[in-house]
Amino acid sequence: MKNIIIDCDPGIDDSLALIMALKSPEINVVGITIVSGNVHASKGAKNALKVLRLLDMLHIPVYVGEGKPLVREFVTAEDTHGEDGLGETFIEEVYDVEVKNGVVDFILESAKRYENLTVVAIGPLTNLALTIEKDRETFNKLKEVILMGGAFKSHGNCSPVAEFNFWVDPHGADYVFKNIDIPLIMVGLDVTREIVLTPNYIELLNQIYLESRDEIAKFIVDITRFYVDFHWKQERTLGCVINDPLAIGYLLDSSICSGEDYFVQVVKNGEAIGQSMVDVADFYREKPNCHVLTKVDAKRFMVMFLTRLFPNYKKEIEVVLNNNRYGI
Ligand code: BDR
Ligand code: CA
Repeated sequence: MKNIIIDCDPGIDDSLALIMALKSPEINVVGITIVSGNVHASKGAKNALKVLRLLDMLHIPVYVGEGKPLVREFVTAEDTHGEDGLGETFIEEVYDVEVKNGVVDFILESAKRYENLTVVAIGPLTNLALTIEKDRETFNKLKEVILMGGAFKSHGNCSPVAEFNFWVDPHGADYVFKNIDIPLIMVGLDVTREIVLTPNYIELLNQIYLESRDEIAKFIVDITRFYVDFHWKQERTLGCVINDPLAIGYLLDSSICSGEDYFVQVVKNGEAIGQSMVDVADFYREKPNCHVLTKVDAKRFMVMFLTRLFPNYKKEIEVVLNNNRYGI
């Protein structure tokens, strides 16, 4: 069993990552911690509860974390994820479950309690930086941190060089890179950009819903609509990039990606703020602090993602994915 905490900012693709983890029998989600990113942490927590209700797993605790980045003024991504963070679906809130406070203590207590606990961080790294700042020794009892963030050879999505999670809280991200003594895996845009929920996949989800009335399929179609429209307006692409679930995919099967160990820092000011600076040529003669993923088998990931969500459709998913006629 893989014990994990998911630190996230749901968020459309965060919600997909949560669903994938919660639907994976070999993963035990011990808690969900929320950071401000795509939306403010208080809104993100409400969205995490909506996902938990969908899966009938409201027993999993949700902790609300930092309301703002360490130093920078907070900027949301509501233009991309919608005013509610879930593609303006405005799904009814969960009223009968309380979210908790105390993210830092929850992570530290869990690090002591569980052997081999992984943190999968798919939002800005503010919560993690504050946890390390409070008790670095205990934080380093964790097994590893798998994070979605940064861009190595790929371009940014907030500036020519910066990826959103690092751009929102570059000080938090840099602090984590500089103070972590356990394996850190960077699932950045180099690999996540390859993970596109194309119109064909969305049609497959529509068909699954029509046939089986599986509410998860409907939820995904509904929340990604806004995201798809955003991608078309922004970059003239069809479908949407779903970054965050790849971090869960890597946790489940690291052989779907490959990469190299490097020393990485995050730029904290100026035009390149939020850039992940990867020291490929070893200019700084520093020990590598991060395993940077550079390649992914996107099709294998999509099979893994969809079959975990809809195990009864395993055969159909494989047929659709392996049929060249669909161009996916
Ligand atoms: C990251 O930024 C957010 O908008 C997504 O949820 C993802 O974590 C991609 O740059
Ligand atoms: Ca995210």
